Formats: sequence, C-alpha cells, structure tokens
Amino acid sequence: MSLRSVAVLFSAIVFAAPCASAQVSQGSDPNRTQWRIDAGEMSYVVGVNEQKMLQTLYWGPKLAPGATLPAARMHPERASFDPPIATTPLEYPAWGAGLFTEPALKVGSPNGDRTLILQYADWRQTGDQLEITLRDTAQPIAVHLFYQAYQQGMLARWSRVENLGKEPIHLEQSASATMNLPQGTGYEWSWLTGQWAGEWQLHTAPLQTGMLVLESRRGSTSHQTNPWFAIGRTGATTERDGPAWFGELGWSGSWRITLESTSLNNVRVTAGYNPYDFGYVLAAGESLETPRFYAGYTQHGNGEVSRILHRFQRAAILPTRPDPKPRPILYNSWEATEFDVNETGQIALAEKAAKLGIERFVIDDGWFGARKDDHAGLGDWQVNRTKFPNGLKPVIDRVHSLGMDFGLWVEPEMVNPDSDLYRKHPDWVMSFPNRQRTEQRNQLVLNLAKPEVKEYVFGFLDQLVTENDIAFLKWDYNRNWSEPGWDTTPEPKEIYVQYIRNLYEILARLRQKHPKLEIESCSGGGGRVDLGILRYTDEVWTSDNTDALDRLSIQDGFTHAYAPQVMVAWVTDVPNFLDKRTTPLQFRFLVAMQGALGVGGNLNKWTAEDMEISTRLIAFYKGIRPTVQTGSLYRLTSPGTGGDSQVEYVAQDGSQAVLLAYLHSQRFGLDYPTVVLQGLDPGARYSIRPLDASKYKGESTVQGSVLMGAGLQVSLTGDYDSTALVLERVR
Ligand code: GLA
Repeated sequence: MSLRSVAVLFSAIVFAAPCASAQVSQGSDPNRTQWRIDAGEMSYVVGVNEQKMLQTLYWGPKLAPGATLPAARMHPERASFDPPIATTPLEYPAWGAGLFTEPALKVGSPNGDRTLILQYADWRQTGDQLEITLRDTAQPIAVHLFYQAYQQGMLARWSRVENLGKEPIHLEQSASATMNLPQGTGYEWSWLTGQWAGEWQLHTAPLQTGMLVLESRRGSTSHQTNPWFAIGRTGATTERDGPAWFGELGWSGSWRITLESTSLNNVRVTAGYNPYDFGYVLAAGESLETPRFYAGYTQHGNGEVSRILHRFQRAAILPTRPDPKPRPILYNSWEATEFDVNETGQIALAEKAAKLGIERFVIDDGWFGARKDDHAGLGDWQVNRTKFPNGLKPVIDRVHSLGMDFGLWVEPEMVNPDSDLYRKHPDWVMSFPNRQRTEQRNQLVLNLAKPEVKEYVFGFLDQLVTENDIAFLKWDYNRNWSEPGWDTTPEPKEIYVQYIRNLYEILARLRQKHPKLEIESCSGGGGRVDLGILRYTDEVWTSDNTDALDRLSIQDGFTHAYAPQVMVAWVTDVPNFLDKRTTPLQFRFLVAMQGALGVGGNLNKWTAEDMEISTRLIAFYKGIRPTVQTGSLYRLTSPGTGGDSQVEYVAQDGSQAVLLAYLHSQRFGLDYPTVVLQGLDPGARYSIRPLDASKYKGESTVQGSVLMGAGLQVSLTGDYDSTALVLERVR
C-alpha cells in the first residue's frame, strides 16, 4: 500500500490539524487488537492479526481523532517462496517459520530449536508508555515491546527480551525495533558518513530493492556512519516540503540500522545492537534491554526533520540543570599549544581570553602524568608537577578571578602502555590471550566492562572533580576496538553491551554527585555523537577539522541529526593546520557562530586588530546566542550546491531571527543571490540590524511576508566573505 492510497483511505475522515500532543490509545480492554500512538504530527498504529502476530498498520501523518484502521491481517504468501511471515509487516520479526528478511530477534541454541514464532500475549499502559508482550509458541521467551510518545513528534521504541525458562538462552541478534513504511517504491534515503576530520557528510540516493546497512562494528558510534537516517519520496521530499520518515538510535557502542526494500516492495527499518560478533546469554529469569530507537514523521521536508529532532533533543534527551544557561563561549589551546601546556602559559592565555569576553577556559591534553606527546601518560591522571608545580589550583583560581569557569580534558577509557597504570594493571586492557595488543595512537582501550575498571575510572574522575573546582570535562576517546576480549567472564561477547552500560553508569554517577558539572563528548572530533551519550553530555566536539570552509558542510550535515546548541565550533588560526587554507577572521567567527562558539587560536600571536574584531564578534554572538542555540534552524542554502550558503535561526517566541550568510567564492563578479527567509510571522514587521552596514543596503524595517517572498539582498564579494543580519519583530 502506498502512502497515497493510505491518504485516500482516510480522506473522508482526516480533518484534524497537527497539534503538539503525545498520547497512546487509552483503555484496559484485554481483547484489544489495535493500538494507536500520536506524537506531534505523526500517528503510529499497530495491530494483532488473526495469527496473533503483531504488525505495523500505519506510520504516517496524524490520523483524525477516533479514526480506526482495518483489522490487521497476515498478508498472503506470494508463491511458495515468499510465505506470509516474510510479506507481513511485522513489528518485531523473529527468525523462524520462513522469515527470510531481516529479523529483529535471533536466538542460538547449539543443539536444539534456533527459531522463534512470536505471538501476542498481553499489553499494558503506564502514562504515555505502552508495553506489548509477545511470547514464542514453543520456547520460554517473552519479548516486551515498549512505545513512548513525545509531544515534540517522536516515538521511542525499545524491547526487553526475557528468559522465562530454566535453561540459558543465547541471543545472537536483538534489535530495538522494526518499523514498516507504506509498501511501495519511489523512496529515497539520506544518511551521514565521514572519517576523522571529515565527519557529517550527507548523502541522498534512491532506495532500491535490497538492504542498506548503516553500522559501526568499532565498539563506539564512529566517525564513519552516524546512527541517523531520513527517508523521503523521490521528487516530493525537499528541504522545505514533502513526507519524511526518520530515525535515530541512542547507543554509543556497535550499532546497526538496516533499511530494507524487499523484492515485493516491503520497506522496513530495523535498528539496534549490531548483530556482528554479538552474543548475550540470558540465564533463567534474566532479561536484555535494548537501546532506545527514536522515530518520527513529518510532511514538511528535511528541514522539519531537523527541527523536530532539535526540539526533541532539547526537551527530552539532553541533561537538564537546576540553573539552565546557554552553552558558554569557551577557549581551548589545543591547536595553539598542543601538549605544551604549563602554568604560566595557560594563565597568559586565560588573561587574553577573558579580555575577549570568553566565559570558560579549558586545558586540553598534556596536563597529567608523563604526558609530553601521545606516547605516554594516559591512565595516570595526576597533575604533571613539572608543568604545574603547584597543581591546577593557581590556574583555576586565576581563571575564576578573570570571571571564567574552568574545564579540563580527560580520556578516561584509554591507557598508554608507557604509564604506571598499565605497568600495574596490564590485565585491565581489552585483549585476547596470546595475541598482540594493537596500539592506535600508542594507546590501548581499558575494558570498562570489568567492574574494577569501571570503579577505577569513576573514582579518579570523582576525585579530580571533587579536589578541583572543575565546571567542565572534555571527555575524549581516541581510537576504536581491535581485540574486544574479556578474559574474566564466560560470555566475552557481552562486552559490546556491558562496556557501554558501564560508560553510561559512570557518566550518570558523576553527574549525580556533581550536578553542576558539564561534559563534552569528543572522540577525535565527532566520533561519538548519538542520542545515547547525549543523555549524559551537554555538547560534542563536532570535528577536529576547524577549517571554516570545510566546517560549513560538516556543520550542515551535523544539523540534520543534532541540535546546534551541542555543536561546538572553534575559531582557530590560519593558515589552518589541516589544509593550510587562509580565511578571514570574520568568516571563521560567523561559521563558528552556527553552534556553540569557542575560540582555539594562539592568542599570543593575535594582533590588536584581531583582538578588537574578536571582542566585537563575541559580543555580537552573545546577543544572538539564545536564538542560535534554542531557536528553529532553517538551512536556506546548503554549502556544496553552489558558491554560497545561508542559515537562519528563529527564536522560540518569534521575537528575533538571525541570518548568517557566506560567500565561499565569487564567480564572474555576479551579485550575491537574493536571500529568501523562512519561519517568520508573515504579517509582522521586522527591524533589520546588519552586522556590517556596508553589506546590507535594504530597508531597515520589512514585513515578514516580504522577507519570505521577495527576500532581501546582501552584498558579499570575493572569497570567504560573510555577514549577519539580526531581525527583531516590531511590537
Ligand atoms: C583529540 C581531540 C582534540 C584534542 C586531542 C588531544 O584528537 O579531538 O580536540 O583534544 O585529542 O590529544
């Protein structure tokens, strides 16, 4: 059934406008066979069919109140080669009875039955959370499916697989959810890939028959693919318009999302733990809970996909604080000094940073152990007394007296073989017996799955934050797994689950004990960004690539999946360390202002003019920060489509809008294209305050409908030119 035929089916009764609500169908009827979940502008309906199997009935635009769907029915077999089990859009397909498509669940039993047939058993509802239980027809296994609706327009799904018997059950694959799209063709999918210093590259391609696998086998989220996707209709879905089904997985370990379009045009998404090298044994009575998979739907294109995700992340994912405040403007000297940090040098930088209006001063790598370069010291989290003879206190006190708070870099999960920690506990590293431990960046991964390692990591971090007045940790993670062995357990493959659970536990305990502490998730740039880690961290390091031109596309891709407020962006020196490109200071600032602004240049080398420009631009950013960090983002023109790009942010209350406009490279002396704004109140008038008077010659007050129709003109010329306009709604 195509989306169009679904729409036709309900055209007589669909009249309700989308409203910001979230609810699951109420009641307690034990004979119920259909459940509907509304979240924002989306409805999702599941039903039990005549063979007691649970199937997706609907995932699409919000249905009218009281609308009911035809009863769930097994789909017919398509010749003897495609049995009903494979053609029916099941909610949680298990491998068995001729399921040849992607399963959500697969069990292994060395000698016995390795298949499952999951039938509906029970349901219950707690608040906005629906739980539907399935049971296998032969083995003592229950699967609890959870559905949680969010008013921002998202549905969270996860499962818990439970062993009801006496014998252990071996899980080989256990997904969070399967979700079926309307059957048909003509879909296209978008996804994000990358590498170190080149994360967040967006791709879009037609979805054809076959299976597309987005995954990480690396033990962490990865730079290479991010657990996010959006599916649209070719020709109909654009940045501004059209249907889009989308999802994001909340897991920071090895993960997999498969997008499958079968030869019968059944289109489904399965997301969860990566089954590659997966193994989990459920003893009698034990359960395994899977990560949260978050899904949504909009009729308003890829721009709205992002805005729904941004609103949802701010409201339901990111940690909340008793005293909410915007992301502070930070200074970090990593690019300026690398490992060469010391008391006098850092204080000198802090004094200059404070003059610019910086609010947080962060010491990066190099402050601890025998750390001169990346060959030694990881694991020895004591202050290096040669560099900081009096400990960190004098620097922290000076930073505070300058009106900034203090942050510190750590890489808690790693160890250099050249460290006291490794010499004392070589057994704490993940490894296989009799096999060389592969070093990357001269470091090995601690096995956080081991309780004693978890306690050590929590202990030293707790001590560090207790003994020093630290407001912020930049938590780094600079390699992936190579020998994922766990020598002290009968089930070593459980490392994929237990490691990440312990990571989350450490973060949660730290935050609980130190409620004011903020944490940045960094993994050699953007290698660990997902909705799992973001439940415990306040921001992420977007990429080690700080070249402003590259950053435009990196940040554009990032915002498809994650909110601008978590996207940390530094202004650094030119020529850029990575590609030797030189861009003007204002261009670098206006690019970094797209998210949480930071500065990472060597301030000792900045001229009086650089300092003056920066002070002015930092003050300007403070005036637009709430709109950038908590407003609605519109990608007016994405970089890569031409020689220019623009982003616009509209404040939550509509009182302010901000336009950031960039010219990458002018061709043939052509004028900068007209900029047509979005998201404004058409009837309201807006006063326009340009950052550069010379680059905006238009009227000082313009009506919203004109700005969103005729647009406005800015004058940018040459290479790497940029400007900003602030629009205030006139009362
Ligand atoms: C990683 C981070 C950088 C910096 C270095 C320090 O590469 O992404 O920002 O902290 O580690 O070694």
